[in-house]
Amino acid sequence: MKRILVTGAGGQIGSWLVPELREIYGASKVLATDLRHPKAELVDAGPFQLVDATNPKAVGQAAMRHGADTIFHLAAILSAVGERDPRVAWHVNMTSLEAALEVAREQKCALFVPSSIGAFGSSTPKDPTPQDTVMRPETMYGITKLAGELLCDYYHAHFGVDTRGIRFPGIVSYGAPPGGGTTDWAVDIFHKAVRHGRYTCFLRGDSQVDFMYMPDAVSAAIQLMEADAARLVHRNAFNVTAMQLTPEKLAAEIRKHVPGFAISYEVDPVRQAIADSWPRRIDDSAARAEWGWKPVYDAAAMTTDMLGHVRTA
Ligand code: NAD
Ligand code: SER
Repeated sequence: MKRILVTGAGGQIGSWLVPELREIYGASKVLATDLRHPKAELVDAGPFQLVDATNPKAVGQAAMRHGADTIFHLAAILSAVGERDPRVAWHVNMTSLEAALEVAREQKCALFVPSSIGAFGSSTPKDPTPQDTVMRPETMYGITKLAGELLCDYYHAHFGVDTRGIRFPGIVSYGAPPGGGTTDWAVDIFHKAVRHGRYTCFLRGDSQVDFMYMPDAVSAAIQLMEADAARLVHRNAFNVTAMQLTPEKLAAEIRKHVPGFAISYEVDPVRQAIADSWPRRIDDSAARAEWGWKPVYDAAAMTTDMLGHVRTA
């Protein structure tokens, strides 16, 4: 990777990934793009351009002018927002992916496309969820993620595009807030714990899915894009996980630092149904074997670090 273009750069992942890419490859080498103006830090620290990722011409021109050889395509609508307006989710997620794939094909760029635990559905084995298994997602978000994985594999097989992807679990981070997913509770809980000492969760206390802390998510994306292609048996997309959380379990972890922290529940049936359809524990042995994936943060280390940052924000 020498010259990089990032779509959806102002979101939860992009606002962490772009600074890390700029640190590694040089600030001027990483062009951040988004539909909206992101925080000043991202714009001041390197090149930024407003680009609608669903517009293939705009993405193509931005990539051409920047001389991009690698694209991180992050622009998307997430699971909960996607269920509120499924047609918009289909349009944004699929049209932008097609644009990124075509630009990658025409301009010979490598392409990173995040998938999600949302690509699995109720009929998938839940614990553990194998790398290669039944995939019948029940949300529009999940349908776009699964279709995206297949399309990325197709472009690799038929056009030789170097497509690679990760099925991210829920991601916990401070800074830019999450963009409307089912796993957003695991970020919100830290802010409410610090500010109010209590949190009302929209999922049941025993709802378990996989998670990881943002520094591990960013390392994973970069490590996969730097991996030796000859070692990759899979491409789109790899299971990865760092921990399994439930609201009860994370609340207990937070209570070690915030004595008396209280959690209550007002279950949102839409998001609960989504969480119930996702894996409880995914098997990430393929990522470990093929490109050396290994997370740094477990629940305890992540909780300590998150609380430190949220308290000083
Ligand atoms: P986010 O919602 O925080 O950010 C998405 C960004 O895309 C936003 O800045 C938004 O302005 C931008 N965007 C939306 N439509 C656009 C368009 N038409 N053109 C250009 N930009 C547009 O999402 P995120 O959490 O940063 O997720 C990035 C990717 O990672 C997505 O593909 C998402 O599905 C995937 N992912 C995220 C998580 C997670 O927990 N955050 C987990 C699994 C997968
Ligand atoms: N965090 C994402 C969501 O909840 C998972 O892809 O939508």
